[in-house]
Amino acid sequence: MQAFDLIIFGGTGDLAMHKLLPALFQRFRDGQFEAGSRVIAVAREALDDAQYRDQVRTALAATATGHEAELAAFLERVGYQAVDVRAEAGWEQLAARVRAAATPVRVFYLALHPDLFTPVCDHLRALGLHEGEARVVLEKPIGSSLASASAIADAVARTFSERQTFRIDHYLGKETVQNLVALRFANVLFEPLWKAEHIDHVQITVAETVGAGDRAAYYDRAGAIRDMLQNHMLQLLCLVAMEPPVSLTADAIRDEKLKVLHALKPIDARNAGALTVRGQYRAGAIAGRAVPGYLEELGRGDSRTDTYVALKAEVANWRWAGVPFYLRTGKRLAERVSEIVVSFRSVPYSIFGREAGELAPNKLVLRLQPDEGVKLWLMNKVPGPGGLRLRRVPLDMSFAAAFGSRHSDAYERLLMDVVRGNAMLFMRRDEVEAAWRWVDPIIAAWAQSDEAPKSYTAGSWGPSAAVALIERDGRTWHEDAF
Ligand code: BG6
Repeated sequence: MQAFDLIIFGGTGDLAMHKLLPALFQRFRDGQFEAGSRVIAVAREALDDAQYRDQVRTALAATATGHEAELAAFLERVGYQAVDVRAEAGWEQLAARVRAAATPVRVFYLALHPDLFTPVCDHLRALGLHEGEARVVLEKPIGSSLASASAIADAVARTFSERQTFRIDHYLGKETVQNLVALRFANVLFEPLWKAEHIDHVQITVAETVGAGDRAAYYDRAGAIRDMLQNHMLQLLCLVAMEPPVSLTADAIRDEKLKVLHALKPIDARNAGALTVRGQYRAGAIAGRAVPGYLEELGRGDSRTDTYVALKAEVANWRWAGVPFYLRTGKRLAERVSEIVVSFRSVPYSIFGREAGELAPNKLVLRLQPDEGVKLWLMNKVPGPGGLRLRRVPLDMSFAAAFGSRHSDAYERLLMDVVRGNAMLFMRRDEVEAAWRWVDPIIAAWAQSDEAPKSYTAGSWGPSAAVALIERDGRTWHEDAF
């Protein structure tokens, strides 16, 4: 690792306190802060270094239990600079602080509303801070439509080249997501079967128990489709569906993902009613605790924002023609679980009698969270004498059992990749735009229709229409005591 300055805009925000600083602390503990590396938090509040460090100390209290001396050493690397990003105040001081050390790598992390990307980049350019080994990290959502995403990209490009721009999608930093690439391309078993001839359908589920909570103001303008589907879900779909890249270089992978996005069959006003379901939670209970409905949380009764979306996509190319990709994501669902299920076709002919039981198709289940692992469901003989009975049981690889050690958070990996200048797990501009190009007509179709989102009870698995979406095709959402 080279020594770096990481300048976090939005340094007092949720992302900085709950994700970025804990991740940096872990990297510090693992010895990845070369001598001279610094974290400079930037926000509007008038704080000095000591006051900001106190906030960080509180935020990291749980992570740092038992490692207090390391936390103290880490905090010495952390500073704070008050800047009003829309005005002039604080910029010169920030520049002086950055220039005070000739740190080789300079990363500007914009954990900010995208409206602020332009003024921040313009200031950085005016001060010449964007030159040399400088990089910028953009947090999603990058825009709210193709037009707004392109406008942001143009504005950022006036200051930072594409090579310097890192668009983060933290799902790509999750272990199981990277493991999907390893499973597909480091084993000979799956790739020959990875096509329409052998795969019946794919399911991607990202279920959360949290609600919109104190992010309701942002969330109400985004909804599940912009917050989760346009980015995380489509990225997962791309990794499942892409062709083998020629290498692991950033562009080789991104070229293949882009082809998948281009191959997605359009969903618009003509077919959105049949292929998509949007929902909104009402009050209910999760794990025995009563939770309010979305409209109560928002404090307004008229929002039609989707807190749940399910859809049936198709990748129209030789490999996947006719194979449905069912995607669903929602807040306030029964459990927090994210998984990719690849469901294979049935055997062409059964030699077993009726007493053997039904031959259930093979499934490969990649669990992203909470307990990361891979399960391959296979038909097996039930042990014992007295006839030949079959049952589907999993070959089970739990990462915790196989690899034991602490699981690093996605942000740990991604932050260090930015410092290294490795863009493999980051989105290129054309990918982000292609994803919006596919999602925009769905949002437009919903806006045109008179139908409100389907209501579902908090703590359920979403609206019944989402069950119907898959059951109509004679398939069912995967349920598994993992
Ligand atoms: C974020 C979304 O990108 O991902 C949040 O904005 C969501 O709404 C979060 O809760 C989920 O991330 P994870 O890593 O907890 O699955």
